[in-house]
Amino acid sequence: PIIRREEYRAPDWLVPEVELDFALDPAATRIKARFHVTRNGAHHRPLRLDGDGLTALSVTIDGAADDDAWRMAGDDLLIDLSGESHLIETEVEISPQANTQLMGLYASTGMLCTQCEPEGFRRITFFPDRPDILSRYTVRLEADKARFPVLLSNGDLVGSGDLDGGRHFARWVDPFPKPTYLFALVAADLKANVDQFATMSGRNVKLAIWVAEADLPKTGHAMAALKASMAWDEKVYGREYDLGEFNIVAVADFNFGAMENKSLNIFNSRYVLADPETATDADFDAVAGVVAHEYFHNWSGNRVTCRDWFQLSLKEGFTVFRDQAFSADQGSPAVKRIEDVRGLRAAQFPEDAGPLAHPIRPESYIEISNFYTATVYNKGAEIIRMLHTMLGPQRFRAGTDLYFTRHDGTAATCEDFVLAMEEASGVDLSRFRLWYSQAGTPRVKATLTHEAASGRAHLTLEQSVPATPGQPDKQPMPIPLRLDLFGEKTQRSFGGERLVMLDDDRLDVTFEGIGERPVLSINRGFSAPVIIETDRSAADLAFLSAHDDDPFARYEAMQQLMLDTLVGSVANGKADHGPVIEAVQRTLTDPMLDSAFIGEAVLLPSEGFIGDQMLVVDPQAIHQAREALRRDLGTTLSDAWRDAYDRSRANRFEQTPQAKGARRLRNVSLGFMMAGKATDVPGIAKDQFDAADNMTDRQGALGILSNVYAPERDAAFSDFYARYRDNGLVLDKWFTTQALSVRPDTIDQVIDLADHPDFTLNNPNRLRSLVGALSANQLVFHDPSGRGYRFLADMVLAVDKLNPQTAAKLVPPLGRWRRFGETAQTAMRAELERIVSTPGLSKDVFEQVSKSLV
Ligand code: ARG
Ligand code: ZN
Repeated sequence: PIIRREEYRAPDWLVPEVELDFALDPAATRIKARFHVTRNGAHHRPLRLDGDGLTALSVTIDGAADDDAWRMAGDDLLIDLSGESHLIETEVEISPQANTQLMGLYASTGMLCTQCEPEGFRRITFFPDRPDILSRYTVRLEADKARFPVLLSNGDLVGSGDLDGGRHFARWVDPFPKPTYLFALVAADLKANVDQFATMSGRNVKLAIWVAEADLPKTGHAMAALKASMAWDEKVYGREYDLGEFNIVAVADFNFGAMENKSLNIFNSRYVLADPETATDADFDAVAGVVAHEYFHNWSGNRVTCRDWFQLSLKEGFTVFRDQAFSADQGSPAVKRIEDVRGLRAAQFPEDAGPLAHPIRPESYIEISNFYTATVYNKGAEIIRMLHTMLGPQRFRAGTDLYFTRHDGTAATCEDFVLAMEEASGVDLSRFRLWYSQAGTPRVKATLTHEAASGRAHLTLEQSVPATPGQPDKQPMPIPLRLDLFGEKTQRSFGGERLVMLDDDRLDVTFEGIGERPVLSINRGFSAPVIIETDRSAADLAFLSAHDDDPFARYEAMQQLMLDTLVGSVANGKADHGPVIEAVQRTLTDPMLDSAFIGEAVLLPSEGFIGDQMLVVDPQAIHQAREALRRDLGTTLSDAWRDAYDRSRANRFEQTPQAKGARRLRNVSLGFMMAGKATDVPGIAKDQFDAADNMTDRQGALGILSNVYAPERDAAFSDFYARYRDNGLVLDKWFTTQALSVRPDTIDQVIDLADHPDFTLNNPNRLRSLVGALSANQLVFHDPSGRGYRFLADMVLAVDKLNPQTAAKLVPPLGRWRRFGETAQTAMRAELERIVSTPGLSKDVFEQVSKSLV
């Protein structure tokens, strides 16, 4: 069945309070639920309690067991009720250890934990499982004390004690009404890193990060990030934490990054655990970003939640925007922006251009889990960022204040958010709402002309929004563009940056007092999530890459220059590498630039992103063109790379932004040195690998070695395996690094690795470390033999039997078939058809595959 946004109806019955009683056991957990339902409005509809794979052991209504009073309708339990308020009591039994979906209550490395968003609660007990029903929870947990000494749920611990038979219990009360998806429990043998935080009003909050005892030394970074996030949300948004304790629990088997359950965040362990020996600098940043993201949800998500799942971006887009701003404040804003835009282009632009394109507020779905996408999250964040840009920080803050105050304790909509912004700022956002309803990445064509005689420059901006599934015709979007003009000779800006709103098909802007030929800098800071087309020459782009005063714009000019060169080279079989080489050299040796920025700016666009620019993607040709440019850069600038490599060598490990930037530049330089093919480079890489006192250096060297045929490569991989075979998160890197290699035998290696004893379909991290990495490797995934496609389809089918949500997430790379040549198209489609004709498919995979075939 298709669920449609326009069909939203307020709930028939409300549940102000609920009591849950868990007799926990991995094989058989008994759950008693007790709650009053109250009729909402005048209607005669029965009470529908959602269930998923549950069998009722008992149902009583107002204290009486009357089996004629209820019935099953599919998985759901239906009860006819005559009065305005009734007491419902049910009991069910489930097996957490048999739960391979990792939704609901499940077992992971000996512990029991939950994941309820979006619709996992119905796998725990019969209940109206929708986000607009907010209830106060009282939860009693009971379990074997030796196996599960720690019993956690949401809110405050109000009682605990020992029971007969080696069992014990804990009782938790959460004073804040919440929807089912924010419910959580954990029963485990874990230890906590405990700390505290004094809120701005002086309340003391106990903070605890729960992990296996051996992992305690790896929790310091997450704890520091948590405290920084709490302080940041007070300072930037005026939002204070609202309970006496805040718990984070690390879990090895987890479908996504983490979950913001009220006061009991449950995390994929890869976003909690970090130390220099096992985590890269990127891992450290991801830990801090996800800790902040989940913490920020306490206001943007929990205190104000979503009315229905079509509103998902209300909490996710806003919260991603908040965590991005937090991370920018903690480190380098320019580098953070570059990383975020690179991520958006890698994940969201292809989504917007493919068969699964949807607006940030979708209109319909078969399975809502398929809509936890880069569009809802990351494009959603860009929409909030545009509001911030258009309104300015003060009016934006007035808008969020109004939004939080007005909707506190309720389930809201995207429209509520925009209305609050509009009212608090006085800015008319009627057209801006198109960003919520129209899918597709707008294209903006910018043409600049100059009349030397009159000192005028004319800028013409024209936009078009491509058709997407179900949306053939688009209206022009309001697009805020930060732009500037620089004098070619003086290298100075004429009058500084301005914000131009393109809110129609076309806009003409005239600039006065332009006494020399101007160069256009546009979409500075990536002020709008659009594709800019200009006729700027290689010389203009090189100029901007050297002289623009916006670091993002400098990066962007360099990227565009590289992209133009590479696209030209794929089309013509050759290209002039000169301008790129010069620009890279200038950047690499510019004493005013910091290493972190240089490390980003000199990187060539990914093969995938180059492919996104072409009508028909030819992965082999793209790889060859890119490698030719890399080789040319490597040999021509050989001394500069070696110099950069040597000057960024550290004496000892430090976690400062400078030291991180140096490590970044060092690995990037080593990569170009390897591309230059000098015979001593594998040895240098192996030395770096051996001498490394941190994972950034070690994995960096391993990744660079992974692409070559050299004895050092094989030695490094076996050494890495021997060192880290007992650390699951690091072993994931061992799989990933092999799957990302561009060596011609990679496809064989990946297929072999799927039979490796350490590979498993049951752990989503491990699965993605191999399968996700393969699909990210454009060259190898599109191996002309078609084995990449077949392998992925085999994996989708195998995983679907265990974990449909995770299986469905693997499908999109196959769905991009239209973009490739005929042979590839046929092979990719054949795999999609093989999947869709398999009996017993989950609706998760069915939705992704069937939509991809249209
Ligand atoms: N709300 C969680 C977060 O953004 C993610 C939950 C993901 N759930 C899903 N079905 N994909 O932090
Ligand atoms: Zn989130």
